[in-house]
Amino acid sequence: MSVAVSINHVSKIYKNGFQALKDIDFQVNQGEFFALLGPNGAGKTTLISAMAGLVKLTSGSIQVQGFDIQNQPFDVRRHLGVVPQEIAFDPFFSVREALRFQSGYFGIAKNDDWIEEILQHLGLLDKIDTNTRHLSGGMKRRLMVAQALVHKPDVIVLDEPTAGVDVDLRQNLWAFMRRLNEQGHTIILTTHYLEEAQNLCTRIAMMKQGQLLALDSTENLLKNNDGIRIMMTFRQPENIENLLQNIQYSQKNEHTYLCHFADYEAFTQLMQNLNQHQVSVENIQTLETDLESVFLKLMQVNE
Ligand SMILES: Nc1ncnc2c1ncn2[C@@H]1O[C@H](COP(=O)(O)OP(=O)(O)OP(=O)(O)O)[C@@H](O)[C@H]1O
Ligand SMILES: [Mg+2]
Repeated sequence: MSVAVSINHVSKIYKNGFQALKDIDFQVNQGEFFALLGPNGAGKTTLISAMAGLVKLTSGSIQVQGFDIQNQPFDVRRHLGVVPQEIAFDPFFSVREALRFQSGYFGIAKNDDWIEEILQHLGLLDKIDTNTRHLSGGMKRRLMVAQALVHKPDVIVLDEPTAGVDVDLRQNLWAFMRRLNEQGHTIILTTHYLEEAQNLCTRIAMMKQGQLLALDSTENLLKNNDGIRIMMTFRQPENIENLLQNIQYSQKNEHTYLCHFADYEAFTQLMQNLNQHQVSVENIQTLETDLESVFLKLMQVNE
């Protein structure tokens, strides 16, 4: 598997002495759909800005498609498209002009077909001749996405692209990203909508306070961290703790226990055991494991 982005022992201390990244070290493979998650201030934008060469590293190095950001910044730029978190662009252009200008920056001319295709996918084609000042907030964000794609970069990095955009664009945008991913583009995204990450991404990195807390496939993160969680309410709470001896649980109230099972077999075994001891169960509620609960648990453990 070849590597798209290699982040090697990266640390960043800002001028005011604040350390935003602490020895971050991981790789994203070509063709991956990868999520970078973490609470506000975790260091996601700092890391993405470092990939784009906008933030100078204190130590460590970053390579994109084999090119080093410090020594070969222009090569990196050709292969990388970043959708920044903050919206900013020249207010004097129309949408079309802004995208042509951006293309010119990469030495690309006559790519109107591609520009129109991008706008079509982002639902912005009807605004192609509108001045960028007259776009709504969500439309401005769509233009930011379009700008990052004009040069068909191998690696596409999206820093919270769905903040403040409507359901429609979210769906359009992700469908478009899926398509680009299927065509071989590597996609890295940050989002606070964990459901999006869970649905789209094959691998997830979780950061907090400048550190990497977890890095695994979405499947493993969901599997390893929780197993099956079942909330059980017993009619007679006496003696329950004896029966739950080999099970991980927390007591919610006198009659109710939240139990963690490795798999359904373990749960069935407990049910048989309860049956034998004639303990009746009043209520059973299966709690689905989602990325949000894994995320919250990880963040809590590392408080
Ligand atoms: N130029 C700067 N100078 C000093 N500290 C900074 C600077 N930029 C960011 N920071 C600090 O670095 C930390 C990480 O910020 P960063 O923007 O990377 O977080 P983030 O994970 O992107 O958060 P969010 O989810 O809110 O976008 C924060 O504590 C922030 O205050
Ligand atoms: Mg950010």
